[in-house]
Amino acid sequence: MPTLADIIAAPWGIEQVSGTPELEVRWMLEDLLEKPSSYLLSHSTDELDAALFERFRNKVKRRLTGEPLAYVLGHCGFWSLDLNVSPTTLIPRPETELLVELAIQAYPNQTNINALDLGTGTGAIALAIASECSLWKITATDQSEKIIEVAQSNAQLNCINNVRFGVGSWYQALQGVEAHSKQGSQADDKFDLIVSNPPYIEPGDHHLNQGDVRFEPHSALVAQQNGLADLRHIIDHGQQYLKPAGALMVEHGYQQGGAVRTLFTAAGFRGVISHKDLAGHPRVTVGYLA
Ligand SMILES: C[S@@+](CC[C@H](N)C(=O)[O-])C[C@H]1O[C@@H](n2cnc3c(N)ncnc32)[C@H](O)[C@@H]1O
Repeated sequence: MPTLADIIAAPWGIEQVSGTPELEVRWMLEDLLEKPSSYLLSHSTDELDAALFERFRNKVKRRLTGEPLAYVLGHCGFWSLDLNVSPTTLIPRPETELLVELAIQAYPNQTNINALDLGTGTGAIALAIASECSLWKITATDQSEKIIEVAQSNAQLNCINNVRFGVGSWYQALQGVEAHSKQGSQADDKFDLIVSNPPYIEPGDHHLNQGDVRFEPHSALVAQQNGLADLRHIIDHGQQYLKPAGALMVEHGYQQGGAVRTLFTAAGFRGVISHKDLAGHPRVTVGYLA
């Protein structure tokens, strides 16, 4: 059987789908062996046993179809967390960390904040906030049981216990929060903060046929009305669920800043402002209840 060094040096063809082919081979091996990266150096002459080599080759085969590495590995990094992903969940994006930063900065040193993450997917936003603000009470919801199971597994994986979960469409999910809560308490009626990264890509957008997005669930990506339907619903109904002076923060497409600010203002929000991501695009819009 080949040694670890042989496998790392072999021409697997991953450069066809990735700019960092050798790194990806190393990550797949580390995952299969359940060892840190230093192990590959110190055991480079070890042979990989036949069963593990077969599993490695299967992962390479999947990766060569263009399937995202996060799905092939079954997990990925976001903020300081390691998160399980499944084909039912979006792979969390680095630009979404802007929403996490803004949420945390909105209430510095406050402990009794009640926050809601709508469309939590892997739980990325809710769990990242929870990992920084362990005394906040956070509710995370999504539209299906299967998705919420992934988010719950991530809360466990990262030892986070101040997030409770609900299943249902947008705000309707709040009715079922109790059943998903280990704490057994009702979701508080109103929130200081609501965050969401909802689907915002227009149906038929050419990006849907490119890269990782081809493998991700359309229900996590695509929204009607030029990509604004879910944003509109969340913004229009936000007031009902926010405390006075509460904040709503949503991620959106880089060309949707103007349209989203208009929706906030029309729904009665004050202090509406769009924040730019690292690429300089308006990415997160924030508004406050009067
Ligand atoms: C763009 S993904 C964001 C996932 C995660 N918050 C993140 O940032 O990685 C949008 C999420 O909204 C959820 N979603 C779509 N329609 C929904 C609905 N009607 N009610 C609740 N969640 C919904 C999807 O299942 C998906 O998890």
